[in-house]
Amino acid sequence: MADRGKFITFEGLDGSGKSTQLEKLASALQSRGLPVTVTREPGGTEVGEKIRGILLDSATKSLSPLAEMALMFAARAQHVAQVIEPALAQGHVVLCDRFTDSTEAYQGGGRKLGSQPVLDLHRILCGDVQPDVTILLDTDSAKSVQRARRRNRTTAKTHANADEGRFEQESRAFFGRVRAAFLDIAYREPERVQVVNARGTPSQTHAKIMQIVVPRLGEPGTTPRTRQRVSSR
Ligand code: TYD
Repeated sequence: MADRGKFITFEGLDGSGKSTQLEKLASALQSRGLPVTVTREPGGTEVGEKIRGILLDSATKSLSPLAEMALMFAARAQHVAQVIEPALAQGHVVLCDRFTDSTEAYQGGGRKLGSQPVLDLHRILCGDVQPDVTILLDTDSAKSVQRARRRNRTTAKTHANADEGRFEQESRAFFGRVRAAFLDIAYREPERVQVVNARGTPSQTHAKIMQIVVPRLGEPGTTPRTRQRVSSR
């Protein structure tokens, strides 16, 4: 049986460059011969991607904060059972764009539901699954959100039904609370959550991430080069 893989999550504000960094890390690890699974939340499974559609579509109106949190966890419970656990059991390095820290930051902090319900739901619905390491990309909230809004306008123009801008319409105060909640998690769990200043160039940020991740992976094994993509981004 393969040794259990490593679970690495990326967190940060909208537009903080998570997806770019996740791709760069995936390529770097794959070229070292490690089997890598790339996935994202909300989403990562067929059911989860449907839930993502509801959660991110700006046409979804009047969703209550509790319903929003429940949907994030519904997608996550399916994702853990169907993708994350099986990939870890096969020895993969699982790179996930957002996980429960996002719920704690956005619903707990941004929507003011607090951390405790998020931690409780995680325990009930996701069991023991915790990231081995979390890369928290720290950026200035105003700049990141502006970038995410610009990107979303371009994607919405080129892809029918690709409006994923519901969160990006939130206020500056909302994103201030989200960033503060992320930093609180890092303060509480300094071993797991590594804060990376992502205000430099993508290559500078990638180099910092490699310095954090590589020592935690041990020597590359002799496993064949495989990379399974479970989301279409
Ligand atoms: P994502 O696709 O990562 O957006 P971006 O690429 O702009 O960073 O995430 C979609 C949005 O969903 C993002 O605004 C954060 C929000 N979100 C939550 O509010 N709670 C959660 O638990 C998760 C996973 C995401």
